[in-house]
Order: sequence, then structure tokens, then C-alpha cells
Amino acid sequence: MTPNLADPSFWQLPHSERLEGFARLRAAGPPQYFVERPGGRLRPERGFYALVSHADVVEASRNAEVFGSAPGVTTPEPARWVRAVFGESLVNLDEPQHTQLRRIVSRAFTPRILAATEEDVRSVAKRIVDDLLRERPEDFVTSVASRMPFEIICNLMGIPEKERPSILAQVNRASVETGVARTVRQRIRVPGKGLRALASMQGMVADLGRQRRKNPTGDLISALVNADIDGQSLNGRQLGSFFSLLMVAGVETTRNAIAHGLSLLTDHPDQRALLLSDFDRYADGAVEEIVRHSTPIIQFRRRLIQDHRMSGRDFRRGDRVVLFYASANRDESVFTDPDRFDITRSPNPHVGYGGGGPHYCLGTFLAKQEMKALFRELLTRSPELRAAGAPVLVPSNFDNRVRSMPCAYAGGR
Ligand code: HEM
Repeated sequence: MTPNLADPSFWQLPHSERLEGFARLRAAGPPQYFVERPGGRLRPERGFYALVSHADVVEASRNAEVFGSAPGVTTPEPARWVRAVFGESLVNLDEPQHTQLRRIVSRAFTPRILAATEEDVRSVAKRIVDDLLRERPEDFVTSVASRMPFEIICNLMGIPEKERPSILAQVNRASVETGVARTVRQRIRVPGKGLRALASMQGMVADLGRQRRKNPTGDLISALVNADIDGQSLNGRQLGSFFSLLMVAGVETTRNAIAHGLSLLTDHPDQRALLLSDFDRYADGAVEEIVRHSTPIIQFRRRLIQDHRMSGRDFRRGDRVVLFYASANRDESVFTDPDRFDITRSPNPHVGYGGGGPHYCLGTFLAKQEMKALFRELLTRSPELRAAGAPVLVPSNFDNRVRSMPCAYAGGR
């Protein structure tokens, strides 16, 4: 039987059972339709088509004239008032606004800026591993996996040290309950707290933007608010909204990839030994395979801008489709033995960073830089470091989020 992807209980199943469910859906043929909310007298039915094959996810990602990102790619779509108050996020925009905004924020990710970041990434990785080996904490996620991307983004943006603890607390508060297993009380309480956290973080970043517009300090916030691309730069609200996106898109994703990475390298000692035998040779393949195998972002949505036929299915304008990266990355028609973790897999055309097209992840280079620098430090300086148990996952239909993961050191804890 094929699973019901709109049923929250599917997302509570163990990861391996969800992957089996996706395999059955891929075998079943054309994209299937799932009802999220039955229609009634006063409201229409709401549902989505599930794109589970690699080919469909790639086509929907690349054909932005048909598959639009507005009004939102997340589930549920952001409410209209939230978008009005907090500003439109890059991920949720279509042409021409998307191209305009992406051209400005792309300044954050030019090869020149990223080459300058290389040294910083290395020294942050070294400091984190120094602390890890000295303090030998129990949980790998807070002490290493989430610290690395958070510090890098704050350094890149020029966030003052004194603001960082409160930003981290706000990010954790805003994203603490993205899972699907929520009580009614949580469903009401958490978004209120999350939005307050978001508002306060965006306000702080907008203030920094105002200061840096007057007195640029050479960091990214200064570049973004003073950028002049066709006479455009980011205003305070856009800056705040972009910063929030980076905190989720850049911090949470990389943190989950790093945690899954240590877990995979622990479960596959042969692959770990191979990586350690010649780190420079195998590191690129290893980080690609970690992202394919763990797929930190499970799904993003699109909405059809015009009628379209794909994979034997006629879609209508206005239909919603969900791109399941987690399924496409295990598509047996593209990846031989897709469940195997193989750092030498080549080619490895995974869609962990999206399937290509105008919204393709802006941070891939940075994410790879961070993962390589961190695993180099971790594995070469502490070859015995390993995950001491399976990652504790937060049930979620959005990201493959690791809540915590114990780690063990040479000679025991
Ligand atoms: C392993 C780490 C990461 C993964 C798995 C990941 C994954 C993704 C995915 C699946 C998308 C959507 C692509 C699409 O809709 O076609 C995306 C978009 C994006 N990512 Fe990443 N990402 C990672 C790291 C980062 C980092 C480090 C940054 C920045 C510092 C970043 C910034 C962004 C931005 C700004 C977008 C939106 C682009 C747009 O809509 O034009 N990501 N990412």
C-alpha cells in the first residue's frame, strides 16, 4: 500500500519506513494527489501532488515559468499578514522580484567573498574542535554541529558578539517546533512565541543595517545595505527577512548535515577509513554523499502558474505540488543501490541543494567549505570520535532535523 503523505502520522514513522513509503510511491507511477484539508460548504478542498521521482523534482525546480514559488514554499504557506509584516522572503518570490532580490543578496556569495571566508571557516572549525576535545561534552549537536554554521554566518554578516546569544536563543525559539507532532496548545502557543522571536531578531538586524548604511564596516550587512544594483539595495525589512532566511536555510540545514555526517561515518567505518586515508582526495565526494543520504531539507512546494503536463499527469493552473528531495535522492533509476552510503559515488547528481533553476541554494559553496573544514579537524585530530547512539530526530515533514546526538571520545567519556 502506498503511504498518505498528508497524514501527520507518516512523518512520525522511523526514517527507514518513510523511505520505503517513498519507494512505493515512486514505483506507483504518476504523481499522486493527497488531500490536506477536505473541502466544506465554506471552503474548497486543499491538497497537493507529490513529486517523488528525481526527474519530476528537477523539472519542477528548473521550469519556474510553470512552477512558481509564490505565495510560499513551506508547509503551511506563510500567512499574508506575516509576509506583510516581516517582508517577502527570497524563497517565496517569483520573477521579476526574485531576480532583483537575488542579484542583490548574491553579493554575499561571490567567489571573492567566499575565498576571504575560507580562513575564517578554518579557524572557527579549529576553535570548535579545541573546545570539544577539552570539554568533551555529551551532545554533539549543540557543541559542534549548530555552532559551526551559526558562527560563520554571524562573522560573515558582522553581527556583534554581544548580540549573538540572544539571536541564537531566538532562532532556537522560532524553530523549536517545526515538527508535526504538536498538541493543540503548542500549535497556538508556539507560533506566537516564534513570531515574537522573529520580530525581535529582525528589528535588531534592521538597526544594524541603519548603522552600517551611515558607517560601513566592510562586512556583509554593510555590502547589502549599500549595494547599488540598478539603483537598488536592501531596505531594513528586506535585510531582516534575508537574515532570518539565512538562519534557517544556512544554519539549520548545515547543522543537520554535520550531525548526520558524523552518524553516517560512524555507522560506516570502511567509508570513514577511506576518507581518512586521503582526506583531500575524498572530502568532496564525502560531503556530497552526506547531503544526498541525509537530505537535510525534505521538501519544498511550488504552485502551478499555468496548465502543464508532466509524467503522465495533467496539472492545472493553481495546483500545488510538493518536491520531495528526500525521495528524489533515493531514486533507483538515477542512483545505483541508493540506500548505500558511498563517498566515491560518481556521478552524484543529488538534489539536496535543490534541483537546479533560479532558486538553487545560494549557500552550497559555503556549506561544503564548512563541512570539509570541520570534518578535517574532527577526524584528523580525534580519529576515535564517533556518534555514541543514533541521532534523536524531531518528527518533521520539512527538515531532517537532529535534536541531539551523543558522542564518544578516545578512552571513553
Ligand atoms: C547542507 C546545507 C544546505 C542544504 C541541504 C541547503 C538546501 C537548500 C535547498 C533545498 C534550497 C531550495 C532550492 C530550490 O528551491 O530550488 C535552498 C535554498 C537556499 N539556500 Fe540552502 N542549503 C544549505 C546551506 C545553505 C547555506 C550555508 C546558505 C547560506 C549561508 C544557504 C542559503 C540559501 C538561500 C538564500 C536559499 C534561497 C535561494 C532562492 O530562493 O533564490 N543554504 N537551500
